[in-house]
Amino acid sequence: MSAALWEARADLVVVGTGVAGLTAALRARELGLRVLVVTKASVADGNTRWAQGGVAVVLPDEHDEGDTVDAHVRDTLVAGAALCDEDAVRAIVGGGPAAVTRLRERGAVFDAAPGGRLARTREGGHSAFRVVHAGGDATGAEVERALVAATSDGHVPVLEDHVAVDAVRTPLGQVCGLLVLDGNGVPGVLTAPAVLLASGGLGQLYQATSNPEVATGDGLALALRAGAVAADVEFVQFHPTVLYTGRGARGRCPLVTEAVRGEGAVLVDAAGARVMRGVHPLEDLAPRDVVAAAITRHLADAPGGVDDHVFLDATGISEFARRFPTVHAACLRAGVDPAREPIPVAPAAHFACGGVVSDVDGRTGVTGLYAAGEVARTGLHGANRLASNSLLEGLVVGTRAAEAVAADLAMGVLARCTGTAELPVAPVADRDSLQRVMSRYAAIGREAEGLAVVGSVLDLSTADRVLDSRRLVEDAALTLAARALIAAAAEREESRGCHVRTDFPVRDDAGWSRGQVVRLNPSGQPVLADPVARAVGVA
Ligand code: SIN
Repeated sequence: MSAALWEARADLVVVGTGVAGLTAALRARELGLRVLVVTKASVADGNTRWAQGGVAVVLPDEHDEGDTVDAHVRDTLVAGAALCDEDAVRAIVGGGPAAVTRLRERGAVFDAAPGGRLARTREGGHSAFRVVHAGGDATGAEVERALVAATSDGHVPVLEDHVAVDAVRTPLGQVCGLLVLDGNGVPGVLTAPAVLLASGGLGQLYQATSNPEVATGDGLALALRAGAVAADVEFVQFHPTVLYTGRGARGRCPLVTEAVRGEGAVLVDAAGARVMRGVHPLEDLAPRDVVAAAITRHLADAPGGVDDHVFLDATGISEFARRFPTVHAACLRAGVDPAREPIPVAPAAHFACGGVVSDVDGRTGVTGLYAAGEVARTGLHGANRLASNSLLEGLVVGTRAAEAVAADLAMGVLARCTGTAELPVAPVADRDSLQRVMSRYAAIGREAEGLAVVGSVLDLSTADRVLDSRRLVEDAALTLAARALIAAAAEREESRGCHVRTDFPVRDDAGWSRGQVVRLNPSGQPVLADPVARAVGVA
């Protein structure tokens, strides 16, 4: 183990350069804090830029269709399958209009409808057209462009190519900095009384995902090792429609935004039958968990001899290429013309609904450690996230977290230290084996036996390693995230939201209308809830 060889100082260190991280950094800067942002890749390489559909928000001044914040709250609660925290939902959804206004002031340009109001689309689970978008289906790219441009004035330094390894803590367990590896693998410490994790999700737990290769659950692992707790980690959302590019697709698969269904496309199987007919009153616009599970069930019968993809018939959408340029380009690259033929699609891992337990101001149960965006579990998503609520959450909670840090600094409740730290030793599984076994046994459709197989394969392929490279940090995070997920998934003997148990196919409201909390035991293994964990706000 080697000690840190270099040091930098700030009031706030932000890990991640997606919507939550950059929004927080900009707000912290406005509040006069010295901010340092770190990313293990390049500034724009995160998940945000791949978001397509948009930002779900009710903008009262601009719409005339009777939509309300209350309706958006209701849709979020329904999609979340009774596991959302209603107060958190109200706070985040209610904060949407101001957050989008601030983002537009920072330069983001959303698509306009005739008459000059913002254009809106609809996605699964929404009772109204309330999803604002940019560049047709390139909303995340525009949000990221605007935020990166706003941080490029030199006042928000970004350390690219630096991977966060572990929190630096005081003897009392307060976070007071971050141990990182620079691009050459040299360890250093960023000393700061506040560290905000905005490091995104964990789609790389699976072979096929809409997430980029950076989505390896690093923030979740770091937070657990720092003494924070996580919740709802069994709820990994599978997007119903990524572009099917052949059997055994690996890595990031191009998304086919749900807005394509919002504008009239329907799912059909290889024999031409409608997949969602009779499954849910909203048919193709049912919440995402319902659609992804229905596709998976449908494929078990191999309709038309096809068992690994269905088709999205968007041939009725006029000017498809203009409305959905990103999807159109991806389809053309795969040899499919969506204007003339149905698009082959399949479900793929998309979003971690759970994460580090934090409140809507980003505070975790560990002093000095904050979380925002996909890495956090605020209670907004429950058992299944409503479409386009993720950019919204990043914008609202990113801002609020920066304000919370400023307030906590002013109150003198945060710790300063001159800490150094050793590179940790942690269990690291073989990534390929992990992804294969998670995809086979812990995706849509889980059962006790399969989850136990995941545990056994992890046991066999895991060794303790010093985390002295980005690859090892990522693999250790994937290992810990997989362990936490299978522990929670095995315990939850029911089906709800994104968690589908084939051996317990029914939702059990009497037994399971509650979240599960995960923490690390003294030997570093994830274990399920205890009364202390419940005290931080998970029922
Ligand atoms: C999509 O455009 O379908 C994805 C948007 C989201 O994940 O909320």
